[in-house]
This record gives sequence, C-alpha cells and structure tokens, in this order.
Amino acid sequence: TFEVELAQSGKTLKVSEDTSILEAVGNAGVSVMTSCEEGICGTCETTVLSGEIDHRDSVLNDQERAAGSTMMICVSRAKGDRLVLDL
Ligand code: FES
Repeated sequence: TFEVELAQSGKTLKVSEDTSILEAVGNAGVSVMTSCEEGICGTCETTVLSGEIDHRDSVLNDQERAAGSTMMICVSRAKGDRLVLDL
C-alpha cells in the first residue's frame, strides 16, 4: 500500500496491492482518459510531481523512466510510500 496525492484535486488516496492507481483515482471521482489499461497505449500518461515510480508500462523509454516525471497510472506503481501526481 502506498499513498498518492492528487495535487490539483487536493486529495490523498491509499492504493492497495490489488488496486491500480488508475482505479484509485477513478474511485476518488477524478477522471483520467484511458484506453488499453495494460501499459501499452500511453493514453493515461500522468505527470509526476514527486516520488519514486515503479514503471511497469511498455511506453516509456529508459531515459523517460529515469527522468521520473511521468508515468502510466494504469499499470505503474510507487516504489516508495508516496507519489504526488498532477491531477
Ligand atoms: Fe494505455 Fe494506460 S491506458 S497505457
């Protein structure tokens, strides 16, 4: 379980092991455009303001992963306790 703060919405969510960030964000009433929900299309790409990302998508290249400023929230997760997203 980790926390995700939605900076624009002013909400903080808990994301458990069996839930994606995308689901948790949707449950909080914040809508994000999605398509594949499998980490391959790039539609759900979201800007990350802080926190370490566990990238699990097939969209970003190594440089983009290392930069840590964006993520696919349908499949990728937090490496640490907390992420802050620009949502
Ligand atoms: Fe396709 Fe997330 S919805 S990468």
